[in-house]
Amino acid sequence: MKSSVVVGLQWGDEGKGKLVDQLAQQYDAIVRFNGGGNAGHTVVVGNEKKVFHVLPSAALWRKKLYIGAGVVVDPESLEQELSQNPVNVMVDYRCGLITPFEKWLDKRLEELRGTNAIGTTGRGIGPAYADRMLRVSPRVMDVVYGDFRDLSAVRRLIGGGDGITDEWIEMSRRVLSPIAGDVPESLLSLYEEGGSILFEGAQGALLDITYGTYPYVTSSNTVASYVGVGAGFPASKIDEVIGVAKLYVTRVGAGPFPTEIIGELSEKIRGKGGEYGSTTGRARRVGWLDMVALKYAISLNEPAKLKLVFTKADVLAGLGDLRAAVAYSVDGKESSNFVDALAGKRVEPVYESFDPIPDVDWESVAKSGWGAAPKQLRNFIDFIQDYLKVEVTEVSIGARRGMSVELRRCAFSS
Ligand code: GDP
Ligand code: IMO
Ligand code: MG
Repeated sequence: MKSSVVVGLQWGDEGKGKLVDQLAQQYDAIVRFNGGGNAGHTVVVGNEKKVFHVLPSAALWRKKLYIGAGVVVDPESLEQELSQNPVNVMVDYRCGLITPFEKWLDKRLEELRGTNAIGTTGRGIGPAYADRMLRVSPRVMDVVYGDFRDLSAVRRLIGGGDGITDEWIEMSRRVLSPIAGDVPESLLSLYEEGGSILFEGAQGALLDITYGTYPYVTSSNTVASYVGVGAGFPASKIDEVIGVAKLYVTRVGAGPFPTEIIGELSEKIRGKGGEYGSTTGRARRVGWLDMVALKYAISLNEPAKLKLVFTKADVLAGLGDLRAAVAYSVDGKESSNFVDALAGKRVEPVYESFDPIPDVDWESVAKSGWGAAPKQLRNFIDFIQDYLKVEVTEVSIGARRGMSVELRRCAFSS
């Protein structure tokens, strides 16, 4: 009986999908609890690459998969994903649904924002969560049981976009009826029978609707404790939080990014790291590791239960001198509080430099273990651990399954 949560600690795309695929073998059930099809979680096995959007990234294992009520579901794209991944999945009766209207409104709002556009994924995520709060969103159970109340108040007010047509209802019922269920009840009974559950977060702490770089954020909470709401599973039963971060930082879409690198080096990192959005294909902005931001993200994610996993060490290798922000300078004063960046103040990173990491045969490091990793990388990780006062349990050194090295085992690694 154990329960763990994987969360992103930056602006998403930290490599959560790779880690979830790797950990999934140790769990009976894998659960999404936030976001929706805005997520793009990549799993690479051999030469095959899979990107999951609303399905948990454990679809390659024969595990029970769940989509909790905190997720917004687009039946059309779920049908597509299911046709490519025949899996055993349950979608909670209470999930809000994304109809063509929410996708239309997402795009329209972006157009109206003009130069202040957020750069959303265009998947209807913001309007779907907003509709829920306005109490006009259809839920899975409304489609399955066919008891549609008049939910069109917002559509009538705003106009535009497609309504909920009979065809849409029919398609949604076909997709959802066989897989709809009571996720909290199933998870609790599985757990009480001794089963193990892995919760898979989408996005990252800095995109959290409440704690992120608002308004340049997504529309759900992205932190570990949201499992309590988004999956209906008691947050007090979470044994372990596994926070994932890149050894540098990326961000897709607009918004503050204190350590952003502009110019040739960012192109080099983007090219080497394949930093293009898994959902939209957009070029990701690239920057140095920001330990002020990381410390903030950790503080929001059950720090006493948190273990850190870093990804993409292989991408930093061979790049020359490295940097990481250890503080900010705000109006000439040093600060180590990320809230300064949230408040839109002019934040200049204070950098520490690190020796270049040589490019090595990472396959052989994966086979031989952490001791075989370049000492410059080990020193970099030691520094980060001391700064953050959090244990780093694993470093990922390649996209493929198996390309990572453990430093110390996570509590439940077997
Ligand atoms: P997620 O949204 O957090 O699951 O991350 P994405 O899948 O959107 O983006 C991470 C990208 O980095 C994917 O293309 C992964 O295949 C890749 N990746 C993950 N870990 C590593 C790593 O350690 N090294 C390299 N080179 N690529 C990695
Ligand atoms: P994963 O789970 C990176 C970003 C979008 C945009 C903002 C709002 O793969 O890490 P939205 O469509 O959610 O309203 O867009 O959030 N965003 C992500 N960036 N990874 C993600 O998911 C993201 N999901 C949303 O680029 O800036
Ligand atoms: Mg992603």
